[in-house]
Amino acid sequence: MTGAGAEVLLETARLRLRRFTPDDAPHVLELDGDPAVVGPTGTFLKAGNRIPDATWSLTHTLGRFLAANGRDGPFGYWLAEDRAEAAFCGWFRFTRDGGDPAVVELGYRMRSALWGRGLATEGARALVARAFAEPAVERVVATARADNVGSCRVLEKAGLSLVGRFTGDGDLVRVAYACERGAWAGAAAPAE
Ligand SMILES: CC(C)(COP(=O)(O)OP(=O)(O)OC[C@H]1O[C@@H](n2cnc3c(N)ncnc32)[C@H](O)[C@@H]1OP(=O)(O)O)[C@@H](O)C(=O)NCCC(=O)NCCS
Repeated sequence: MTGAGAEVLLETARLRLRRFTPDDAPHVLELDGDPAVVGPTGTFLKAGNRIPDATWSLTHTLGRFLAANGRDGPFGYWLAEDRAEAAFCGWFRFTRDGGDPAVVELGYRMRSALWGRGLATEGARALVARAFAEPAVERVVATARADNVGSCRVLEKAGLSLVGRFTGDGDLVRVAYACERGAWAGAAAPAE
């Protein structure tokens, strides 16, 4: 188990969200090395949608996660592991790096072998609730490629609504989602 002793943000029925540690390098390399995972994000579109090399993943991806640990209270990047076995499932972004302490940005990537089991939705819903547990937070936001149907569906199921479309990274059309504190369903049973 690579995350022994790492701070835990929250647990859901199936997931535990904990801090990344340097020992999580193999997990980061696995996700960054899977074209099915990185392709739909658009992150590497400028580079022809190539997957990043290991050096980039360890410095940029894992380095960014580790640097964010503890810098902004509960915010940062959280590794999702299965509660029963502590097996790696993916990660969630839960950051306020837009400079506005009232706005939290959500993101996620799951191991492709685990897609379709509701895990991203489960984690995203818990993080929206966790965001609004912070009195300073007024809005949860996220962006996705317009053609990333799965990601958009996760956001909708987590309580966010489509608020805009924009073009970035060349011709790439992206969609923006948001949920305001006043519109959030809170503890009410989420709609399926
Ligand atoms: C997007 C992603 C996180 C979804 O993870 P997941 O655990 O499979 O999502 P869930 O099982 O919670 O699915 C949520 C909903 O999306 C739907 N969905 C998931 N992937 C889909 C796809 N490729 N096409 C259509 N619908 C999809 C599911 O059917 C479900 O909707 P439903 O309950 O109405 O059936 C995962 O596919 C992934 O890691 N993708 C690559 C990285 C990525 O795109 N991240 C987001 C960047 S913005």
